[in-house]
Amino acid sequence: MPKIVLFGATGYTGRLIAQALTARGTAPVLAGRNADSLAQLATETGGADTAVADVTDPASVRALLGRGDVLISTVGPFLRYGKPALAAAVAAGAHYFDSTGEGPFIRTVFDHDDEARRADIALLTAFGFDYVPGNLAAALALAEAPDAVRADIGYFIADPGTSGGTRASMAGMLFEDGFALRDGRIVPQRTAARVRDFEVAGRSRTAASVPGSEHFALARSYPQLREANVYLGLPGPAAHGLRATSLITAAIARVEPVKKLGETALTRVVKGSTGGPAPAARARTRTWAVADVSDAAGRNRASVTLAGVDPYDFTAAILAWGARTVLDGGLLGTGALGPVEAFGLDRLTAGAAEAGLNR
Ligand SMILES: NC(=O)c1ccc[n+]([C@@H]2O[C@H](COP(=O)([O-])OP(=O)(O)OC[C@H]3O[C@@H](n4cnc5c(N)ncnc54)[C@H](OP(=O)(O)O)[C@@H]3O)[C@@H](O)[C@H]2O)c1
Repeated sequence: MPKIVLFGATGYTGRLIAQALTARGTAPVLAGRNADSLAQLATETGGADTAVADVTDPASVRALLGRGDVLISTVGPFLRYGKPALAAAVAAGAHYFDSTGEGPFIRTVFDHDDEARRADIALLTAFGFDYVPGNLAAALALAEAPDAVRADIGYFIADPGTSGGTRASMAGMLFEDGFALRDGRIVPQRTAARVRDFEVAGRSRTAASVPGSEHFALARSYPQLREANVYLGLPGPAAHGLRATSLITAAIARVEPVKKLGETALTRVVKGSTGGPAPAARARTRTWAVADVSDAAGRNRASVTLAGVDPYDFTAAILAWGARTVLDGGLLGTGALGPVEAFGLDRLTAGAAEAGLNR
């Protein structure tokens, strides 16, 4: 019987996913590097099976999986720790989900498209708040305006909290290249190279460009799309500050020894496995994803806003929904897929609503 394996189960997001799966009546195999923490989590979630695996021993990760299983990995930062889980899924013939928000890692997963097709599996990267809501908002807007050739997608968070794992992943991204979709092709673009305003819940809000999954996923599903931009909402001065900072870090990144020094220093200071926002804080957090699509003349053709719950709660719920839907036979294809391509617009809309994201 195929099973769901949750790797990184004892981390902040992993625990939330374990709870979300249990609430759906699905017991995943809880996998991680620490046997004691896994045993404690298994007791808390009603006695699930556990398995020890560490990314420094790739064979231990491969041993978690059999053909047809569904792996959810939250072992991040993904640029540092992500590849063994991806490789294990491809080698085992297991479907793969991850919670990454790191653009260069997303690109790595999409680079495995051919391998995934040959293995008859789906690779679903960035299947959390980064970047399911924007894919869905853009697909809904493109359904209303099939002649649109450009999508601008913005993510906005009110009252955000961050986990240690998120901060570690953000730090690891500082010296990395970003990208964008231009003329139907992925091209390099610095983080925050573009800053623009969106209308969000009746207010104008500023956002800076980031590398997302939409650039890859939307281009696959909507070949008419020539340009896609993904933005993260930030207070105006912070957005412009990030643009200035990214100019400096891009210059540093060109000098490999200096980049290494910077990365090593950040790794020491910014650590994962340190928890995240408490339930009461998450209950206050609100999120929005906005997609504006426009035609070749630059005219806005449709706009869709989705409003949702806290990013960690959404990530846990949508990953639980996605893994369960794959096990139940709801997957529409194989390869490295975007969320709309994997499940179809109607089914994904319903899954997102279950996870607290609505138009
Ligand atoms: N984009 C989004 O919307 C979104 C939302 C949530 C999370 N995320 C991302 O998901 C990742 C996890 O976030 P988090 O908040 O759960 O962080 P976290 O609490 O730091 O969790 C990281 C997990 O990785 C495990 N790990 C670290 N090194 C390992 C190794 N060598 N072998 C096996 N496991 C190892 C940790 O194990 P221990 O438990 O034993 O320490 C922990 O379970 C981060 O990259 C974060 O950015 C993204």
